[in-house]
Amino acid sequence: MDFSKQSSFEYLSHPDSSSLSPEDLQLLQEARTVTAQAYAPYSKFNVGAAILLENGALVRGTNQENASFPAGICAERVALSASSSLHPGVAVNTIAVSYHNLNGSSDAPISPCGICRQTLSEYENRQQQPIRLILSGQTGKVFIIQTARHLLPMVFSAEDMK
Ligand code: THU
Repeated sequence: MDFSKQSSFEYLSHPDSSSLSPEDLQLLQEARTVTAQAYAPYSKFNVGAAILLENGALVRGTNQENASFPAGICAERVALSASSSLHPGVAVNTIAVSYHNLNGSSDAPISPCGICRQTLSEYENRQQQPIRLILSGQTGKVFIIQTARHLLPMVFSAEDMK
């Protein structure tokens, strides 16, 4: 008997940002630019997130570090919290994430950390609609992922607590 299961997902990999739609390109540029506003004196890894809301509003966030390292917060969660606070009840359509590594290169996409994936999943459940992700460094490849759910298979959610 075969008990094995598989989990996989499809995403788009653009060789660079020139093949993006104008809307996606603009959002990615926002994420790239806002990295300059990160507070990351410890890691020197500046991350920027730009969110396009369903009402067309744009909300930006950057990572905010702390001398007590675990108190730091990622750019994605800063942007999501800001969106939900400034525009309550308005769904997140797309989040673009970029970074500027002051110690190295910034030419390949990064994807959200585990806590941010869990947080994105909670937002998707709240709004009952997918959140697209655009992931890229300052240059180079751009990954487009259709829903944050794809990044966290077997996610834990409120459903599991019923
Ligand atoms: N960081 C983010 O803001 N988002 C990510 O997707 C990955 C990591 C931050 C956390 C910390 O301030 C720094 O990058 C290095 O881990």
